[in-house]
Amino acid sequence: MTLLFPGSFDPVTLGHIDIVRRAAALAERLIVAVLDNPHKTPLFSTDERTVLLWDALHDVKGIEIATFSGLLAEYAGQRNVTAIVRGVRDAEDFIGEARYAWHNRLFDGTETILIPSNPAFSHISSRIVREAAEHIYPTGSDDSVLRKLVPDNVRTALRRIMIAKE
Ligand code: PNS
Repeated sequence: MTLLFPGSFDPVTLGHIDIVRRAAALAERLIVAVLDNPHKTPLFSTDERTVLLWDALHDVKGIEIATFSGLLAEYAGQRNVTAIVRGVRDAEDFIGEARYAWHNRLFDGTETILIPSNPAFSHISSRIVREAAEHIYPTGSDDSVLRKLVPDNVRTALRRIMIAKE
């Protein structure tokens, strides 16, 4: 079985990493696919997001880090995956993910497997991480809160990018 875990990963969080490890344990192969969206300006470039994922996940067996653009359903069809995987933090996530899942199934017959987030990580989002880092680094505040949200390589990259933006 090959699973596909798509996302923006801007940046990858401890919540994403937990889902990757749990999904990788279910499948022979897991493709972690970074969305390259030309209509949005992410904090980290597609290449940077890919490298951060790779550094954080190099010990996980059977994973591939890829990028995709355009429709997820089309990409899932091209890669011939068994199913898409998404993490679900709460009821709001579930409503959104159920809609995406049905759209993707109608498009190409690809099923989606929803994995409930570990409650320890269910408050984390990439957006909260970006906002915290935007505040913490330019003001020189203590960044220990970020240890609870992202892996160390992402914390280092956030510090570098936020100080460079100043
Ligand atoms: O990490 P995110 O931002 O929650 O990931 C969202 C993602 C990448 C899974 C979603 O935006 C997506 O699938 N984008 C590709 C375009 C697409 O297929 N959209 C849905 C149907 S129109």
